[in-house]
Amino acid sequence: MKLSVIGCGYLGAVHAAAMASIGHEVVGIDVDDRKVASLSSGVAPFFEPGLQEILTAGLASGNLRFTTDISEARGAEVHFIGVGTPQQKDGHAADLTFVNAAVDGLLPHLAAGDVVAGKSTVPVGTAAALSPRIEAAGAVLVWNPEFLREGFAVTDTVDPDRLVVGIDANATGAEPAIEKIRSVYRPAVAKGTPFIVTDLATAELVKVAANAFLATKISFINAMAEIAEVTGADVTQLADAIGHDVRIGRRFLGAGIGFGGGCLPKDIRAFAARAEELGRRDSVGFLREVDAINLRRRERAAALVVDALGGSVVGKRVTVLGAAFKPYSDDIRDSPALDVAVRLRGLGADVTVTDPQAIENARRQHPQLTYVQDRDDALRNADAVIIVTEWDEYRRHLTPEHAGSLVAGRVIIDGRNCLDAVAWRAAGWSYHGMGRP
Ligand code: UDX
Repeated sequence: MKLSVIGCGYLGAVHAAAMASIGHEVVGIDVDDRKVASLSSGVAPFFEPGLQEILTAGLASGNLRFTTDISEARGAEVHFIGVGTPQQKDGHAADLTFVNAAVDGLLPHLAAGDVVAGKSTVPVGTAAALSPRIEAAGAVLVWNPEFLREGFAVTDTVDPDRLVVGIDANATGAEPAIEKIRSVYRPAVAKGTPFIVTDLATAELVKVAANAFLATKISFINAMAEIAEVTGADVTQLADAIGHDVRIGRRFLGAGIGFGGGCLPKDIRAFAARAEELGRRDSVGFLREVDAINLRRRERAAALVVDALGGSVVGKRVTVLGAAFKPYSDDIRDSPALDVAVRLRGLGADVTVTDPQAIENARRQHPQLTYVQDRDDALRNADAVIIVTEWDEYRRHLTPEHAGSLVAGRVIIDGRNCLDAVAWRAAGWSYHGMGRP
């Protein structure tokens, strides 16, 4: 099928390349000419495993191209909207400027029978508000939320665990529109991936509810970590024990410095803001607690370093392992890792940050920090080390003996509870986990 994808950021670039990889003819459209130039020349503008390969293959096959000219959306049967919905500068609600601009730009190029498929994460009610203009152009609006995880974005797009399509069932052309979406995702549908057809509001809510649930799960275990810290309990063993209950499950019970990234933090805030607009402030009031618990863990990690160094970090060399908000990503949006690094510098430490992928992005945002690409160089002469992004380079491939041969002081703070405390202690390190004795 001929598809257009409007917005070539994380979501859109991956979606465009992934759709080309399953045989569609795709044009990716973005207002940012640098991004378009980079994608057109076959260079992925961010680090995402597998993206480079499908981008190169898509361009070579002629199935994939990128442009800044929205009129090139003309002729596509399905137009995906994958622009960003960042947090508003002066509040917690989502900023819908880019969604509105994408729809405005697209309208003159729509043909009767076209499908506009919103993928961006939006406040519930957005699709219903956009729908009349799209219907007036003879096209149909569906909402088809995206659940991709950074680091697994290509797999999550080509082989998702579910497909959700919201539509106004009474809209003219609703049935053919659903069939078009089913055709877009034919390989996944053919292998039995759940394909859930629902109304527009439910589709919008599925996305924010999923992210709210995941954020709540992480903050729940981090709240338990706070209790463990005053009782001598071990939150990692607690998580293992409750995680055996299949109703609970062990995933997303990783206590540590908490969640960050371009989605969970802003999505729970936007959800709370939208609930308030709807007169249901109390219904998701707990999300404010979820956010507060999450932010407290960053503070706690910095405090652990201070305690471990005897009450002050002033003039102490602290090596921060990680800058990305999670491994397999160079994304530093709302990264708890960088937040901890900035806090430590604010407390007077001499901070050195290393990360396998995210240094360039981190440097742009926080030029005041010292960055060292090589892990071992970064560790040399450190008085304390804190691991804040659980890259394999730090979690699996760094032994306490090797690290011990580089540092000045064997003090390690495990901001992700990802190290073997017994092994590090046995090698003479003073080990401090989050919510662990
Ligand atoms: C998330 C959702 O998982 C995805 O479905 C949605 O489409 C976009 O938002 P992503 O932001 O890529 O994806 O990252 P995710 O893997 O969910 O991790 C989010 C944050 O939570 C990271 O900072 C991670 O380090 C942290 N996390 C995750 C924990 O602190 N503990 C855990 O147990 C799991």
